[in-house]
Amino acid sequence: MDSIIDKFDKYVMHSYGRYPLVIKNGSGRRCKDENDANYIDFGSGIGVNALGFCNENWSRAICNQIQTLQHNSNYYYTAIQADCAEKLCNTTGYQKVFFCNSGAEANECAIKSARKYSFDKYGKGRHNIITLVNSFHGRTIATLSATGQDSFHNYFFPFLEGFINVTANDVDDLSAKIDDTVCAVMLEYIQGEGGVNTLEQSFIDAVFKICSEKDILVIADEVQTGVGRTGKFLAGEYFDKKADITTLAKGIAGGIPMGACLFGEKVKDVLTPGTHGSTFGGNPVACAGAVAVLDTINSDGFLDEVNKKADLFRKRLLNCNEVDSVSGIGLMIGISLKHKSAGDVAKKALENGLLVLTAKNKVRLLPPLNIDYSEINDGLDILISILEEN
Ligand SMILES: Cc1ncc(COP(=O)(O)O)c(C=O)c1O
Repeated sequence: MDSIIDKFDKYVMHSYGRYPLVIKNGSGRRCKDENDANYIDFGSGIGVNALGFCNENWSRAICNQIQTLQHNSNYYYTAIQADCAEKLCNTTGYQKVFFCNSGAEANECAIKSARKYSFDKYGKGRHNIITLVNSFHGRTIATLSATGQDSFHNYFFPFLEGFINVTANDVDDLSAKIDDTVCAVMLEYIQGEGGVNTLEQSFIDAVFKICSEKDILVIADEVQTGVGRTGKFLAGEYFDKKADITTLAKGIAGGIPMGACLFGEKVKDVLTPGTHGSTFGGNPVACAGAVAVLDTINSDGFLDEVNKKADLFRKRLLNCNEVDSVSGIGLMIGISLKHKSAGDVAKKALENGLLVLTAKNKVRLLPPLNIDYSEINDGLDILISILEEN
């Protein structure tokens, strides 16, 4: 009989470089493989399982919803989509939400909305969007075109016109490239896939200042940084900034596909009937998952705990000789190593019962937000012993 991996590779498109691990089930922040070996999860499925595996309240909310109403078209209303949107707006201070199913879709919505805002007000010709070198915005043609990394601009020609790349933290480059063809600047406060690089406050200040003077929208891609990942609900709070449009996905529904595009005052009416849509967007089951995640993150002291846990990670990692520096904010952690390769460390970690990620040449950790202290210490014992091995 074929192994699971043989069957998988026979039938599933080989578009990922996968580790040879079959995950069978999970509970809390630990999961088991097909042979019942245990793993501590420091990756949360790339920042998705915000509350770990199969959290009780979250699972109950989803099961209740699935037994009540699993889907209806966006031609009708549901109470759960209204609740979810209200909670998102109350939590973030935004006015309106468009629901979709992924980060790339949330960014597509942001790109379309920025162009429409500009078209409605100024007519054609003001469609360019500035994005940053080393950014990552998704895998659709538009979001790949927006992504500021040449390695993503291959095979699928022609890419979309209308994206101009500026070097992150380079105000002169920004000033030179912003002109009256530009309708938006799109950025990640912390470039995730690009290597967990936090943008400088002075650069972000300059972006917001120039954009507000010229009625250019700021789009914050918080697909990776949002929903409590950094210890605040939105990473923009660290910079004292609220973008006109913010996109979310990954952890928002705790492991059910959902993306959300949040609209501030200026753009809250930009999408009118028929201009954008999604069959699955705002799906009741996804909304029930998101409400459970939002209620947990908004509960008393939850984000304070995220920050305390982040401190423990950083303190222990910075005490390790092989660690050169630790980047990111909160539980979005990039580890630069002095000698070892991040890829080798991730492989060894897996062999030793720990799931970690990489981003460029860094080991990247995006643990579930509700990880407990003993799980952090057990996982770090494994990681640090690998890092300190000769
Ligand atoms: C900042 C950012 N934007 C967009 C995306 C794309 O999200 P998705 O894979 O859900 O389409 C990602 C995924 O890693 C991301 O990190």
